[in-house]
Amino acid sequence: MNESLGCARRASLMEMASGTTILGIETSCDECSAAVVETTGPQAFPLKVLGLATYSQVSLHSPYGGVVPEIASRNHLETVNPMIMGALSEANRQFSDISAIAVTNRPGLVGALLVGVSAAKAMAYALNKPLIAVHHLEGHIASLFLEQNILSTEKDFPCLVAVVSGGHTQLHVITEPPEKWGDSLLKSTMVGRSRDDAAGEAFDKTAKILGFPYPGGVWIDRQSQGGDPKAYAFPRALPDKSILEFSFSGLKTAVSLQVQELKKKGALDAQIANLCASIQEAIVDALWSKIKIALGRYSCRSLAIVGGVAANSRLRQKLQHDCPVPVYQPLPQFCTDNGAMIAAAGAIRLSQGKSLDRKSMLTLNAVAHPDS
Ligand code: KG4
Ligand code: ZN
Repeated sequence: MNESLGCARRASLMEMASGTTILGIETSCDECSAAVVETTGPQAFPLKVLGLATYSQVSLHSPYGGVVPEIASRNHLETVNPMIMGALSEANRQFSDISAIAVTNRPGLVGALLVGVSAAKAMAYALNKPLIAVHHLEGHIASLFLEQNILSTEKDFPCLVAVVSGGHTQLHVITEPPEKWGDSLLKSTMVGRSRDDAAGEAFDKTAKILGFPYPGGVWIDRQSQGGDPKAYAFPRALPDKSILEFSFSGLKTAVSLQVQELKKKGALDAQIANLCASIQEAIVDALWSKIKIALGRYSCRSLAIVGGVAANSRLRQKLQHDCPVPVYQPLPQFCTDNGAMIAAAGAIRLSQGKSLDRKSMLTLNAVAHPDS
């Protein structure tokens, strides 16, 4: 984190316990979301989600088979204020009740990020509240602490955290509870990532080949019910056990060739469930095989899985059945992009005294790249 430390309201975790209220804003891609999250009990976590308002742009991007950046940013402009007001109203809170504002400023589509960042900067400056710049993937990890009390004791660490979203597939070994997370948490803990497509992207691209609308992950999940996961032997890339990386780009080529062949035979429609189940199995297998290696290599005592793909039913089932350590997941409503997870990450950083002061908040920028 680049932000200057020690905004006037530097709060310890114990101080945070006395009802700190964070407004979180997320506009990094195709969800415009705001949430009001509050600390409740004697501990900073779990965080209570008092209000959450999300506008999904899925129907706007669906005809194009993927997110159109210009459409995303223009639409965020129209929806960001209603989402903020919606979250406040559901929470029954006013601007004056807010302790701090957290916003995703990286990574993502720059035009889309800028809408949330500008709104958050303006509010924080006008209301004289601390501003916290949040890394989107740190937000996904912090979604674990929404409405559930997990990873609160040392016995869960090291914890392997798998971030599986539409844009990223990364493995992190986190050795300490959130109050001790360093500024470069994501960089310092990463032990594996995808060389090309993310797992969610693999779902979305193969779903597109099958003719399902964007985003396709949930369609493949649904259509797999009743299909045979062994019907088609789609590739599992990088089987070498010494490599903790993923590669999903070969999968879409294999699916595309198979679909062409079935189309020629006029057999595609009858095979949709089998194709979906086989695609899903290939992605879940690839994820699980590398997770298993990482759990052993780093002697992890728990596994946490976050991001949109964490909602996948087969992945959840496989982890529950096969994983030798406790498995933690966000509640399903907090898996895909939302403002509450950004507020949660903001709460962690605020508790460490890491927020932007009035001067430095004005120069906060949006950044596209994940390693920033
Ligand atoms: O985390 P997220 O909301 O956005 C990013 O940060 O990318 O994840 C969206 C991704 C999409 O690729 C979507 O297809 C996938 O999560 N997804 C799923 C499921 N629900 C969402 N993939 C597989 N099975 C699901 N049930
Ligand atoms: Zn995300």
